[in-house]
Amino acid sequence: MSTRSSRLQGFYQLPPLQRREQLALWAELDEDDLAALEGGLSLDAADTLIENAVGLYALPFAIAPNFIIDGRELLLPMVVEEPSVVAAMANAARLARSGGGFSTGSTESVMIGQVQLLDVPDPALAAERILERKAELLAQIESLHPTIRRLGGGPRDLQVRHLDDTPAGSMLIVHLLFDARDAMGANAVNTAAEALAPALETLSGGRALLRILSNLSDQRRAWASCRIPASAFTTDAFTGSEIARGIEAATAFATADPYRAATHNKGIFNGIDAVALATGQDWRALEAGGHAYAARDGQYRSLSEWRLEGDDLVGWLELPLAAGVVGGLTRIHPTARLALKILGHPDARLLSQILAAAGLAQNLAALRALAAEGIQAGHMALHARRSVQQHATQSEHKVK
Ligand code: MEV
Repeated sequence: MSTRSSRLQGFYQLPPLQRREQLALWAELDEDDLAALEGGLSLDAADTLIENAVGLYALPFAIAPNFIIDGRELLLPMVVEEPSVVAAMANAARLARSGGGFSTGSTESVMIGQVQLLDVPDPALAAERILERKAELLAQIESLHPTIRRLGGGPRDLQVRHLDDTPAGSMLIVHLLFDARDAMGANAVNTAAEALAPALETLSGGRALLRILSNLSDQRRAWASCRIPASAFTTDAFTGSEIARGIEAATAFATADPYRAATHNKGIFNGIDAVALATGQDWRALEAGGHAYAARDGQYRSLSEWRLEGDDLVGWLELPLAAGVVGGLTRIHPTARLALKILGHPDARLLSQILAAAGLAQNLAALRALAAEGIQAGHMALHARRSVQQHATQSEHKVK
């Protein structure tokens, strides 16, 4: 375990290039790593990523200090355009430190692939037949993904669901559970679902239509928790327990009311998305999975929980987080690779746990501010700094 402390006091007061020097020392970065902070992706690489590329689009890359996650000191790389998000993250990590930081965990990296079967004459019989041949069906797609197989992953299970009353009539849905290990796994799961479909058609007597992963990857979840002494929240204007009780009441609001839950969960994704973008993740997939999970009991609710236990405020966040550290952008984007290096080259599960901690931290920061001075105070300070800078740039242009 590292002996470096992530508690970088005064980091935010340094000019950007000095912050960069401090980061380079902390994370043992070399010249190539530092070059990746100048944008990273080349136009040629962009051209291999998507169609019709004509340029690159830059966003700020920042560091949130102060994190302890499962006893590890960590600096979190963040890519985000919204003022206050990075400062909020650093403040929340500092608060969580006073209770030992974040504890995290995760399930195996099990993704779900769906095959939709239409016109199945006898759905119950078809389900029985498919499940009887499960071992054979899984064996049939076992060798499709040699890399994932080498990493110990691959197809794990089949489940059958019957949707008997949809606008398009009855349909049988087969779920393929697939352990993607360190990959996000979208390609592997889609390939496997497509490969399974003909055999499923034969067994069911139906017609396969959609063969695609589900972004509600609820078999691939990560969670984070923290326990913070209420006294750590004390300010000049509020007692610690007033703020802690306010955070508890804010969570109750978001659990009961979808209008509030959407904003509450948006705050959580301010943290998750920023680290996800920095590390080259498919953040739309993470968002889709998180929001669908938030509505799993039929009502859209808060993804996190905060409650007072004695003199401590205890927080918990759990959600699907399909993160990958091999393939995709992590292979191509130098800045994403650098972000993973700053995090100490986590495997996919650990990265998902770091994302969960980032989400919980950001949620804590938002609720703390909302339960005390309100969020505009911090926001406006940065806004004022930006206005001064814009004004200076405009004057400079006028002088020229
Ligand atoms: C702003 O980007 C996020 C917040 O609205 C989150 C919240 O209200 O919990 C501050």
